[in-house]
Amino acid sequence: MSRLIVCTNLRPFAGEPSCVLRGSKDLLKLLEKTIAERGLNIDVKSSVCLGHCPIGPNIRVAGGKFLHEATEQKLLELLDRLEEQSQ
Ligand code: FES
Repeated sequence: MSRLIVCTNLRPFAGEPSCVLRGSKDLLKLLEKTIAERGLNIDVKSSVCLGHCPIGPNIRVAGGKFLHEATEQKLLELLDRLEEQSQ
């Protein structure tokens, strides 16, 4: 099973970059919806700060790789790759 960890952290001070302010909660919802629709064997969790705030939204893929500056398009492409690898 693959695992994706989505940073949904909000940093407390004005002007600091935060994944949640860049739409990570919407990306998390998209991930959950798409995984359910496709019946994929992928676990998704939300997380506190992953330490790459200036290049968020950030998603960690099991194995230590990251998807930085995540967008809907990038996420769907990532799911396509994970689906291919599982076949
Ligand atoms: S707020 Fe997401 S990596 Fe720091």
